[in-house]
Amino acid sequence: MGNQHHRLKIKPTSKLHQLALFFILCFHIFILSTPSATGQQGDGMPVSLSNFQALQSIRLELIDPRGALQTWEGSRNGTCSGSWAGIKCIKGQVVAIHLPFKSLGGSISSKIGMLKELRRLSLHDNLIGGTIPSSLGSLPNLRGLYLFNNRLSGSIPPSLGNSSQLQSIDLSNNLLSGFVPPSLAGSPRIYRLNLSFNLLSGSVPPSSSLSPSLTFLALEHNNFSGLVPDTWGASLSKEGNRSYQLRSLTIDYNSLFGNIPHSLGKLGNLEVLSLSHNKINGTIPEEITDLLGLRVLDLSSNDLNGSFPKGSDRLKHLSTLNLKDNHLSGSIPPTIGNLSSIILLDLSLNNFSGPIPASLENLSNLTSFNVSYNKLSGKVPPRLSKKFNSTSFVGNLQLCGFSGSNPCPSPPPVAQGPSPSIMPKKHNRKLSVKDKLLILMGSLLAILLLLSCVLVYCLIRKRAASNDTNGKSPRGEVAAAASRDEAGPDGGKLVLFDGAFVFTTDDLLSATAETMGKSPYGTMYKATLEDGTKVVVKRLREKLAKSPKEFEKETVALGRIRHTNVLPLRAYYLGPKGEKLLVFDYLSKGTLSSFLHARAPETIVDWAVRMKITMGIMRGLNHLHTRENLVHGNLTSTDVYLDEQNNPKIANYGLHRLMADSAELVTTAGSSGYRAPELPTTKQATTKTDIYSLGVIMLELLTGKPPSEGSEGSDLPQWVASMVKDERTNEVFDLELMRDVSTTGDEMLNTLKLALHLVDPSPEARPEAQQVLEQLEEINPKLVAEATEGSA
Ligand SMILES: *[C@@H]1O[C@H](CO)[C@@H](O)[C@H](O)[C@H]1NC(C)=O
Ligand SMILES: *[C@@H]1O[C@H](CO)[C@@H](O)[C@H](O)[C@H]1NC(C)=O
Ligand SMILES: *[C@@H]1O[C@H](CO)[C@@H](O)[C@H](O)[C@H]1NC(C)=O
Ligand SMILES: *[C@@H]1O[C@H](CO)[C@@H](O)[C@H](O)[C@H]1NC(C)=O
Ligand SMILES: *[C@@H]1O[C@H](CO)[C@@H](O)[C@H](O)[C@H]1NC(C)=O
Ligand SMILES: *[C@@H]1O[C@H](CO)[C@@H](O)[C@H](O)[C@H]1NC(C)=O
Ligand SMILES: *[C@@H]1O[C@H](CO)[C@@H](O)[C@H](O)[C@H]1NC(C)=O
Ligand SMILES: *[C@@H]1O[C@H](CO)[C@@H](O)[C@H](O)[C@H]1NC(C)=O
Ligand SMILES: *[C@@H]1O[C@H](CO)[C@@H](O)[C@H](O)[C@H]1NC(C)=O
Ligand SMILES: *[C@@H]1O[C@H](CO)[C@@H](O)[C@H](O)[C@H]1NC(C)=O
Ligand SMILES: *[C@@H]1O[C@H](CO)[C@@H](O)[C@H](O)[C@H]1NC(C)=O
Ligand SMILES: *[C@@H]1O[C@H](CO)[C@@H](O)[C@H](O)[C@H]1NC(C)=O
Repeated sequence: MGNQHHRLKIKPTSKLHQLALFFILCFHIFILSTPSATGQQGDGMPVSLSNFQALQSIRLELIDPRGALQTWEGSRNGTCSGSWAGIKCIKGQVVAIHLPFKSLGGSISSKIGMLKELRRLSLHDNLIGGTIPSSLGSLPNLRGLYLFNNRLSGSIPPSLGNSSQLQSIDLSNNLLSGFVPPSLAGSPRIYRLNLSFNLLSGSVPPSSSLSPSLTFLALEHNNFSGLVPDTWGASLSKEGNRSYQLRSLTIDYNSLFGNIPHSLGKLGNLEVLSLSHNKINGTIPEEITDLLGLRVLDLSSNDLNGSFPKGSDRLKHLSTLNLKDNHLSGSIPPTIGNLSSIILLDLSLNNFSGPIPASLENLSNLTSFNVSYNKLSGKVPPRLSKKFNSTSFVGNLQLCGFSGSNPCPSPPPVAQGPSPSIMPKKHNRKLSVKDKLLILMGSLLAILLLLSCVLVYCLIRKRAASNDTNGKSPRGEVAAAASRDEAGPDGGKLVLFDGAFVFTTDDLLSATAETMGKSPYGTMYKATLEDGTKVVVKRLREKLAKSPKEFEKETVALGRIRHTNVLPLRAYYLGPKGEKLLVFDYLSKGTLSSFLHARAPETIVDWAVRMKITMGIMRGLNHLHTRENLVHGNLTSTDVYLDEQNNPKIANYGLHRLMADSAELVTTAGSSGYRAPELPTTKQATTKTDIYSLGVIMLELLTGKPPSEGSEGSDLPQWVASMVKDERTNEVFDLELMRDVSTTGDEMLNTLKLALHLVDPSPEARPEAQQVLEQLEEINPKLVAEATEGSA
């Protein structure tokens, strides 16, 4: 019998597996322990008098609101005939009671001790209260006890351990308190013991009390305290080489403290070791990696320090490694790439440093990955940054190259360096070398005028690209040293526009900031104020901005703009040395670009959502064009933010109005994919250049492709146009949309037609925002109603 169990290769990773295990086991126990295979429903013999009386008492003490026990009627003749619900007999003796999910209340009668042949008691998923009768311990044949998901209280009767045949006990999710009787885990045939989700206290049973047959021990979510027993595995030496069966040990959510004992490494059959949410300290003993069969190792939310466990690359079966929320430090070893079965890897909230090993890229089954809030540095391996969003990487001061971070500097990433800030102090010194170069160039300029013009242009562009943070790292303080005195002679000036925010210059300048992106206009930061409020801060390139006076005039105009689909400008700050900051609302869902192109593989963006976004952007742009008489000037999908309900909000509008040399900026700003073809010649942003950019965003939504992804030499509009021309229109749409049954083809086609109209090479041919809005409303009238209801 032990052998049979041993051969059952059951992996209790998922709830489904657990359930399967549970049923297989029940079946197993019943069949194996039934002397005659005929015992299915009963053999027609009248039940013994003592059993009959016991059942009557049991019924009396249970509360049966749904009449589940109505069939428990009549004489002893019928009891074992199969007509009594949940009763199985052999030769007039009750061997099993099986009444789960019956809404039973009340309590379990101690008369149950009279059912001497009882092998299985299954009353799980009811509302039974009271205590577990100690008379259960006097049932010599009891093999399975399933009382989980009830309201049993009191302590576990020590007598239970006297039932020498017990194999499976599940008392989980009750209100049991007190200590675990040592005899219980030592019951000679015990296979599975689940006491999780109770109020049990005292110490965890030491190995000396564990039966060698114990395979699953679940003690999570209790109030156990004391040291993690140091004796597990230790008693093995006394008993020769006989190994423990223990395959799963889960003690999460208790109050264990002390170190993880080295002896744990002797539990050679362990597949699941879960000790999360305790107070365990010290280091992770390397013996843990002797457990070659480990599939789940969860040590999260403890006080462990020291390094990543050495030799873990040997754990070929490991699918979950969770070390989150400890104090682990040192580097993540590149051999982590040998964890070929890994699915979940969480190292967040530790002190790990150094780079993220590139070897992680090769772990194809890795679907959940988190290294946020460590001290990691360098560039995120590209395939990882593509697969996982910023949630996986944030909170690492010197990590770059993931969605939402700043792009990595082109020279190899610098691991050390001063923390950057929205207004770095060392800025000028860094530039002085370049300034000297400039002077040198200047003398050359005089000689070779034409050539030098080109050179100056290049230099300005180059500086623009590396200006703000020196490209070193994505996070830091908004400003370390700033004047406190807003009105003082050297002080800066903070102007708040209407909105819920109230903050001071100090609040703003001491906020922690994380780079979100850069453009020729400046750098965007996500800043977290002292009180936790998050805002977006745009720091304009100082040298390119207009004079303070003009800047203020234009900014005040932008600060008045309010529309559901326009990200409100909440404040601006004018620093003593001419620093210029704009403060916008922060939306946690991020930009449309990352929403579309950097989402997790399984996330689907359905047609309705895409239409809603299109419509929203259109409304916002229409508002800017017609009500505010403002041209956006640089619309891309990274300038559109989404709120929790996927309402789009246009950001970065009118920035060209704040810049001295807007013509140059207008033609270079943004990704080239959104730039209207006439811009390089006209050098002027117009409503029609905005409409072109919007058309590209619509195509992005329709095709699911970023605009840079058009094939060789052609941009997205050209690619779509050529596909349509070749009558391959169906291949244009995002595959996801084609699979979505709720999508209507007409709507998609009409939207595509409209988008192509917007990206017409000739500006005159493009419609105005108001017309586009009307056409969109015609394409999907339902959405109009929804949108107006939603905004009402
Ligand atoms: C029970 O069965 C016995 C014979 O097996 C019979 O004599 C007796 O009348 C039955 N009692 C009832 C109440 O049916
Ligand atoms: C267990 O059984 C032994 C004898 O078989 C008895 O002496 C002991 O009291 C029992 N323990 C409990 C807790 O019932
Ligand atoms: C123990 O019980 C809990 C709660 O019912 C369940 O989630 C868990 O899977 C069980 N574990 C084992 C090993 O049976
Ligand atoms: C948990 O155990 C401690 C003693 O170890 C006790 O003071 C505390 O009341 C217990 N908490 C609960 C909820 O039972
Ligand atoms: C126990 O294991 C050791 C090494 O693992 C081995 O040398 C020894 O022969 C084994 N003893 C028995 C009785 O199997
Ligand atoms: C672990 O914590 C205990 C107190 O709970 C402390 O005495 C001990 O020094 C700590 N050990 C390590 C290695 O941190
Ligand atoms: C872990 O923490 C303890 C207590 O703070 C300290 O004594 C020990 O040196 C630390 N170990 C490592 C490897 O950092
Ligand atoms: C881990 O992978 C490296 C190469 O990436 C290899 O040299 C090493 O032997 C592997 N280790 C194990 C235990 O497989
Ligand atoms: C990381 O280490 C620093 C000191 O080096 C310490 O102050 C900080 O608390 C540590 N953080 C964690 C999460 O252990
Ligand atoms: C990845 O998962 C698939 C499906 O579960 C499995 O067939 C495959 O063996 C796994 N790959 C590795 C390297 O473990
Ligand atoms: C990933 O695997 C490929 C082929 O299996 C290998 O050539 C490449 O070196 C691996 N990359 C890393 C970073 O281990
Ligand atoms: C990242 O992805 C996860 C799931 O894939 C999602 O729950 C989370 O909200 C995403 N975070 C951001 C910032 O997009």
